[in-house]
Amino acid sequence: MRKIIIAIDGPAASGKSTTAREVARRLRYTYIDSGAMYRAVTLKALRENVSVHDNDKVTKLASELDLKLRSHDCKTIIYMNGEDVSEKIRTPEIDQNISPVAANPGVRAIMVKKQHAMGEAGGIVMDGRDIGTIVFPDADLKIFMIASVRERAIRRKKELEQKGIKIDLEEVEKDIDYRDQQDINRHHGPLLKSHDAIELDTTRLTVEEQIQKILELARHKIETS
Ligand code: CDP
Repeated sequence: MRKIIIAIDGPAASGKSTTAREVARRLRYTYIDSGAMYRAVTLKALRENVSVHDNDKVTKLASELDLKLRSHDCKTIIYMNGEDVSEKIRTPEIDQNISPVAANPGVRAIMVKKQHAMGEAGGIVMDGRDIGTIVFPDADLKIFMIASVRERAIRRKKELEQKGIKIDLEEVEKDIDYRDQQDINRHHGPLLKSHDAIELDTTRLTVEEQIQKILELARHKIETS
């Protein structure tokens, strides 16, 4: 049976990664979290005291970075130059500094190339902002996941709290909204629904319902392609 490419895009904290990871597991596909790669570059810049606004320096850092994504116990582990940075990249500090890194055309070119190489053989579920538009414009199945800002903020706050990070709901909502605006308005690889993507509003869906909807579409594609 042919192994398809599934692209899941959408705004911050819309449930992409939880859903994508589980869809991949049930199909025995590989899940690729493209956001983790931009997060790792941001972490590297902060550690090296390189301004996230210095496009040339950040591009150089990105080009020298050895990034590896591995799946372990249903979790994605990201290694940056051999160091497991999976937890360190998911903090409010990274969220607040990532937008200029993600808007940097040099960084995007490097990451898109890596992402394309990782997934071109098929049998993958990749989530991000530009997967259905730039990374895999010919993906077999494209989902654009949305949810209200309030609902997304509630989900992200819960996620952070589980990791012991306390933050105001208003602040989470402001961060999410800011990041979305930056993602939508940037010139290179903006957050954009591909014309052939299926929109899925998850505001009133449970995680299991989201997973089932995408699995149904994926199985249909696999059987008919
Ligand atoms: O989970 P959440 O949606 O908050 O974040 P993420 O998917 O890990 O992405 C973090 C940031 O990386 C986003 O706000 C985007 O600016 C950027 N990103 C991107 O530009 N392109 C991608 N394919 C994935 C993420």
